[in-house]
Amino acid sequence: MQPTSLIVNGSTVSVTADGDTPLLDILRNHLGLFGTKFGCGQEQCGCCMVLVDDRPEKSCGKALSTVAGKAITTIEGLGTPDRPHPLQQAFLDEQAEIAEALDDNICRCGSHVRILRAVERAARVLGEGGTR
Ligand code: FES
Repeated sequence: MQPTSLIVNGSTVSVTADGDTPLLDILRNHLGLFGTKFGCGQEQCGCCMVLVDDRPEKSCGKALSTVAGKAITTIEGLGTPDRPHPLQQAFLDEQAEIAEALDDNICRCGSHVRILRAVERAARVLGEGGTR
């Protein structure tokens, strides 16, 4: 196996793995970047999304050999805890309180995201003076 070079979050890295290895596995298991998540593994859910040369791509279906020499940006590459990217800051600002409040609720049915959206919608309606 030949090493493959790619640019991850602005740094050139060299990875020795089979060319068919999904980029998601490379990011998580070889480079320790756990911000990119595994969901369906079938390019359906989008939770493994990264930027490849500034274009959104589902990393679970992207083979290492197809990203050789390309620039990959993961969530870790968008900002830092001290200087979060505006997107990260928006998520922190909008969801932190709701996520904290629901922390004890462990979703086993897969509807966690829909529950968060419903709580956000309710908060918006109530914030606009809506009633039940
Ligand atoms: S893990 Fe679901 S699209 Fe990649």
